[in-house]
Amino acid sequence: MEVWTVANQKGGVGKTTTTIALAGLLAECGKKVLLVDTDPHASLSYYFGIESEDLDLSVYDLFIQVSSKEQILQSLCPTQYENIDILPATMALATLDRALGAKGGMGLVLKKAMSKVSQNYDYVLIDCPPVLGVLMVNALAASDQIIVPVQTEFLALKGLDRMIKTMDMMQGEHDKPFKYTIVPTMFDKRTKASLLAYQQLQENYQEKVWPSVIPIDTNFRNASLTQKVPSHFAANSRGVFAYKGLLDYLLKLPQRSIK
Ligand SMILES: Nc1ncnc2c1ncn2[C@@H]1O[C@H](COP(=O)(O)OP(=O)(O)OP(=O)(O)O)[C@@H](O)[C@H]1O
Ligand SMILES: [Mg+2]
Repeated sequence: MEVWTVANQKGGVGKTTTTIALAGLLAECGKKVLLVDTDPHASLSYYFGIESEDLDLSVYDLFIQVSSKEQILQSLCPTQYENIDILPATMALATLDRALGAKGGMGLVLKKAMSKVSQNYDYVLIDCPPVLGVLMVNALAASDQIIVPVQTEFLALKGLDRMIKTMDMMQGEHDKPFKYTIVPTMFDKRTKASLLAYQQLQENYQEKVWPSVIPIDTNFRNASLTQKVPSHFAANSRGVFAYKGLLDYLLKLPQRSIK
């Protein structure tokens, strides 16, 4: 099982969209995918029509008590796709940092939980909130690969610097170096700002940047109205084509696995 985390402290850069698009493509290839929603806004859960406030169990419960494999499996919700399940988020997650306070040893909760279901899934994709807190720390620590979507505009580049610093800071606590790929998103080839931001990204981060872009494509927003993954909603769109290229690239990167 591989764990991929989609993270950036900046909001609205395409994290949830990237998570869903990659999950849809992996599922189409016959891979069993578990989506983990760690954002208290629960966008990923809502995308698949899951009203997470009505559920008894969610990601939150992993942090409140040590959960057995059976308990974790009970918390999972199916989606309309046979190969995609989801561990939903709830609003209570917003209170987690305060609830846990200075309680130590909470950084590996998600990693330990995922290792318990490693026989059940080929890929776990974790969608992060745009906030540095216990949830993002857990998601980063659990991951074999980190995907950092960055909107191709100047303000987003500033946010990226902060995200890279966060990963560097956390790096000290981990034996294996974080492997991350920066993914330029919402690229609009008609605007100079997009082109300049893309050039700047490549100059500053070089081989860490995926050498292509996810274009602006209204199909992503429209797909979200239908609860369908983009590759099902608009299989031949340029946005989906771009995510296919990204998936190929990520699959060819040298992997490391937790088991
Ligand atoms: N390539 C794209 N082209 C057009 N619209 C896009 C694209 N990617 C994402 N969007 C839209 O932009 C909005 C923000 O995307 P998304 O929710 O994926 O960002 P996010 O980083 O997860 O945001 P947050 O930080 O709030 O969780 C959504 O309405 C989504 O449909
Ligand atoms: Mg999101």
